[in-house]
Amino acid sequence: MNILLTGGLGYIGSHVAVVLTEAGHRVTILDNLCNCKVEVLSHLAKILGSSPIFIQGDVRDQVLLESVLKDGKIEAVMHFAGLKAVGESVQKPLMYYNNNVGGAISLLKAMKICQVKTFVFSSSATVYGVPKYLPIDEEHPTCPESPYGQTKLHIESILRDLANSDDAWNIIALRYFNPVGAHESGLIGEEPNDIPNNLVPYISHVATGKFDKLKIFGNDYKTLDGTGVRDYIHVMDLAEGHVAALNYLNKKLPKFSIINLGTGAGYSVLELVNLYEKVSSRKITYEISGRRAGDIASCFANVDKAAFLMGWRARRSLHEMLEDSWRWVSQNMTIEL
Ligand code: NAD
Ligand code: UFG
Repeated sequence: MNILLTGGLGYIGSHVAVVLTEAGHRVTILDNLCNCKVEVLSHLAKILGSSPIFIQGDVRDQVLLESVLKDGKIEAVMHFAGLKAVGESVQKPLMYYNNNVGGAISLLKAMKICQVKTFVFSSSATVYGVPKYLPIDEEHPTCPESPYGQTKLHIESILRDLANSDDAWNIIALRYFNPVGAHESGLIGEEPNDIPNNLVPYISHVATGKFDKLKIFGNDYKTLDGTGVRDYIHVMDLAEGHVAALNYLNKKLPKFSIINLGTGAGYSVLELVNLYEKVSSRKITYEISGRRAGDIASCFANVDKAAFLMGWRARRSLHEMLEDSWRWVSQNMTIEL
């Protein structure tokens, strides 16, 4: 199929581009480069033998989107383009609503005009808010705690309404848990522009020596060792989940589905620190600091729906996630090891 990936030069989109191309699809990427480097394209070419089609542009540019959909004979869209920093969304909510919700509306309008009605959306486990029970299934109530999370939930509502309005739409919103790791080549991976907020990118740069130490945000949670527990999923498993989603959409059964993508297992911050030391053979110095505002003790997914509907389950271990993360940062760092 001809598939458009918005935000396809970013962390998750670039890995999905690899898996889709390897599965025989023709990938077109549209990205405004606000949170990625254009060099990702040449790294994709090294992995794939040739580069996906790339258009530099913004999803809010409806006219451009219409021409991309028509010219590329696009049959399905995967929508990764969005801003994703929770803290920044609290400071700049309008920017988040404009980019994320505004971007989704422009894109969907262009798709409707061009009669392209197969859509996969990058949603987030953050829509669930504080867990009322674990593991979290898709029926769990939603209560996002940040403007970022609100944008995801608003877009899900728009998608549900759209699917109800017209049977020709086929839509899946994938709620990602915590994507980590990198392609096994070490050529593409997560590259935060600023100081990373997320655990694995931060640990990885304690390992490289870029940062002195990790601050562990609290060791007094009701978890195995007191530190926060999350459902980390290898970005390549996540990428394969998108191929499974596309195959499911092509059966044209439901008009709108929401599906968790996680492993179903939770690991603590200290477990990650210890395993990262093993895979990198480097010391991860840390200190225990206060809890981070808005953090929760534990969060992990019930992944039965993805297995039941799409025949997909994550298969890579935490060891592989951290090993691939380390390969990516150690191959691409500028500081001497
Ligand atoms: P990313 O920032 O690496 O990738 C997003 C890409 O979208 C970037 O390349 C950016 O340049 C592009 N972009 C942003 N706004 C755009 C616009 N208006 N027009 C065109 N391009 C635009 O982020 P990611 O980690 O790859 O996340 C992809 C999607 O998955 C996002 O929607 C994010 O909210 C969602 N998500 C990510 C995580 C995670 O932990 N990484 C978890 C849950 C959900
Ligand atoms: N942590 C630290 N030190 C750090 C960074 C994180 O101790 O420097 C801890 C956190 O307190 C938490 C765990 O590591 O216990 C994971 O934190 P992350 O920031 O990596 O991930 P979160 O689960 O907090 O949030 C992520 C994304 C959100 C998304 C959410 C649910 O950042 O955007 O997963 O999908 F909404």
